[in-house]
Order: sequence, then C-alpha cells, then structure tokens
Amino acid sequence: MISIKSDREIDLMRQAGHINYLAHEEIKKHIKPGIRLDELDKIAHDFIVKNDGYPSCLGYEGFPKSICISLNDEVVHGIPDARKLKNGDVVSIDFTVRYKGYESDAARTYIVGSASKEIEDLVENTRLALNAGLSKVKSGVKIGDVSHAIEEFAHEHGLSVIEDLVGHGIGSDMHEEPDVPNYGEEHTGITLKKGMTIAIEPMLNLGGKEVCLTDKDDWVIVTEDGSPSAHFEHTILVTEDGYEILTGE
Ligand code: MF3
Ligand code: CO
Ligand code: CO
Repeated sequence: MISIKSDREIDLMRQAGHINYLAHEEIKKHIKPGIRLDELDKIAHDFIVKNDGYPSCLGYEGFPKSICISLNDEVVHGIPDARKLKNGDVVSIDFTVRYKGYESDAARTYIVGSASKEIEDLVENTRLALNAGLSKVKSGVKIGDVSHAIEEFAHEHGLSVIEDLVGHGIGSDMHEEPDVPNYGEEHTGITLKKGMTIAIEPMLNLGGKEVCLTDKDDWVIVTEDGSPSAHFEHTILVTEDGYEILTGE
C-alpha cells in the first residue's frame, strides 16, 4: 500500500525536510581537505539535534553513525571514520532526519578542492539527472516515466546507472513503498498521486554499473571496478501539477 499523506503529515515532513536541508548546508561549510569523516558526522549529529530533529540513520538496522559518508568508489552507506578528506576526493553525504515521527532523506555529492573534468561532469550530471527525474513528476504520471528520464539523462552523458539500489517512498518510515528505480520504461509501474511522498536518488557511476559490499563492514557499497560514483537525493511531495521539494531551501 502506498500511503497518501494528510496535510498534517505533509507539514511534519516539510519540517523534517527543512532541518535536513539546514544540516546539509552546515556540513557543506566543513567540506575541506584535512577534516576527518567522524568530525563531519559529529557536526551533523549536533546540528540536527540542536534543531529538534533526530538523525535517524543512527541505529537504523544497526547503522553505527548519524550520517552516511561515501568516498570515491564508495557509492552509499559509508561509515564515517578517522579518514581525512583530501584534495580531489568525491564525497557523498546522505542522511535522514526524523521530526515528530516523520522522516526526510537527502543526499549531495561534493568534490573536495578540484578534480578532473571527467569527475566534475560525473557529479554535475548526477545532480542534473535528479532534476531530469523531478521534471516528470506530477499526479497521474507513472513511476517508470521518472525512472526512464533519469536513465536516459545518465546514458546521454556516458554514465552508468546502478540497478541494485533504488529510491523509495518515505513517511513515518524511512523506506516505504514504492521503489523508485533510476532506470525503467515509460508508462510502466505505479501511478503517482497527489499526496505521495517519495525519495528520488540517482546513483551514477563513471565506470560500470556493478556494485558490491566489501569485507570492511556490512554497510558500505562500492563500485566493482573501483570507479567513482555520485549520488543526489531529495524527498519530494507529489502535487497536482508537479512536486514540492521537501528537502530544499
Ligand atoms: N539515506 C539512505 C537512503 O537514501 C538510507 C541510509 S540507511 C543507513 O535510503 F542505515 F545507512 F543510514
Ligand atoms: Co538517503
Ligand atoms: Co533514500
């Protein structure tokens, strides 16, 4: 069952999303060579709590930290540790914020200092792939229309689309129905309806699409070929004519 949120629920998700946005803005200020990943985690944790949210990745199925930080060939679910950011790193920051029982989920990828044109394009085109998906969203369209737009954009820009990880519905649970894949056929899948809230999150690779776990921990997912990966995510509300970004400004 895909839930349609009430006005009250939407308002709480808006507030959760706003804290999430503010926390991303705070973290962004600290993305510089030399900072340790666990320092970024603490900055995020303290900021979210100070703003009356809860960093709900912490303890989710045993996840040990408040935010996910994934470096270079790490795609998602990276665990912040004592490693330091260095010039040229591709760093994805992904986390959820809960507020009064409702979740928000957003991710951004940054380049630390400078990197090659190829890597700059990977990051920028992953951000634009999210926009390509968003541009299709409104009440009455099929999820496959959104998925297809992301896939088409990625392929036009020479990037591969991870198929093992997908976006999702979101609400009082971090992960709800439906799945929101980053690939698919137009006019297929469930119909989006006004009042649905979903997290759209393209994860694109410079190399091949295959990803796997490592033997480092049970969480971090890396690209099989070691190529860098980027990730952008927003939580959105489907409206009659389009969408509202709940994790935006
Ligand atoms: N934020 C992730 C997502 O986009 C979920 C992270 S789960 C965690 O769905 F446990 F790793 F935090
Ligand atoms: Co996320
Ligand atoms: Co998500």
